[in-house]
Amino acid sequence: MHPQTLKKLREWFKKNAAELPWRPADLDAPRDPYAVWISETMLQQTQVSTVRDYFIRWMKRFPDVETLAAAEESEVFRYWQGLGYYSRARNILKTARIVVNSHKDCLAPCKGVRNDESKTTLPTTRKELEALPGIGAYTAGAILSLAYHEREAILDGNLVRIFSRIYALDFLPSESKVAAETYWNYARKIADSPKAYMHNEALMELGRTVCKVKNPDCAGCPLQSACRAATENRTAEYPPSKKHIQKDWHGTVLVIESADHKILAVHGGQKFFKNQFTLPHFESPRNATAGIPAQAEVYINADQVSHVQNIGKFRHGITVHKIECDVLHIQINKKAPTKTAPEIRWIQRELAQEFFANSFCLKALALLKP
Ligand code: ADE
Ligand code: SF4
Repeated sequence: MHPQTLKKLREWFKKNAAELPWRPADLDAPRDPYAVWISETMLQQTQVSTVRDYFIRWMKRFPDVETLAAAEESEVFRYWQGLGYYSRARNILKTARIVVNSHKDCLAPCKGVRNDESKTTLPTTRKELEALPGIGAYTAGAILSLAYHEREAILDGNLVRIFSRIYALDFLPSESKVAAETYWNYARKIADSPKAYMHNEALMELGRTVCKVKNPDCAGCPLQSACRAATENRTAEYPPSKKHIQKDWHGTVLVIESADHKILAVHGGQKFFKNQFTLPHFESPRNATAGIPAQAEVYINADQVSHVQNIGKFRHGITVHKIECDVLHIQINKKAPTKTAPEIRWIQRELAQEFFANSFCLKALALLKP
């Protein structure tokens, strides 16, 4: 982001920052890492409007990490009651006890955030923080930047939405390692500044109040001139919805052929085409080892098999699935039985093209040698 755009962001924040119990009036003041940790953990799955009162009550009862570490778990849960995701409360208590018991004497000096030498505080490096229960990349970044004013990045849902829109990113960080790294790299650029704490919090606030999920207020946004989605009038397309993200699926399709040249069709119990006859198929790793897969033995006995061959692979898309399948041609030395279960049919090979009227099966059958 251009320095001029970041300046606009800071100015917007100074003017528009909401008054929140964990946010001092002086936005440039370093904060108590304990308070940042508690508020940011509460804010991870819960709205600001709900967290506000919980945070105030919590800080009155557990004003610092020592008080918290000495509390009973049942009482800690009572103070969390209603916020949901109780593993967060359990982890907070675990971490408080770890910090008090083991980090007490070995902590780095805390940069004037707390001058009171007798008080324990949280670790000051990402590595130490992320080693603690319940503290992930986001919370560690929030503590390091908002409390210690380190140049450390954060990435939460708000920042993901903003980055996706300003850079027109049509993927989510959850899709792959590379995708996550792309987002984190944008976050790190924003944080590579003495004002990282303000950039981070301003973006969260902007995401919450302006760059909202629905109907972002681009006209009132300090990033508008730098935003591709806004310039192209395509904010609704970013970030992409999870529904439209293609999932890779690798499988094996079985073309089981009898001695009298009939092909096995099955109805139900399959990954795709639950309400029609299809070729049997199942999820399998790429380069699965050769041989008769156990899934084929549901339909035939291994000792009937006269020939097995991987006859190739095909790609196909069904709904959100980006499919790649190996096709296994299994020939058996027996005629197709005339009496079968309702979910099984043996189809004359010449009639198969017509019978399997979906392109998933047709692509598999096309690999059969004439
Ligand atoms: N959401 C989570 N943490 C936040 C913060 N510090 N400011 C604004 N919104 C947030
Ligand atoms: Fe979000 Fe609109 Fe601002 Fe772009 S211009 S960051 S879409 S509010």
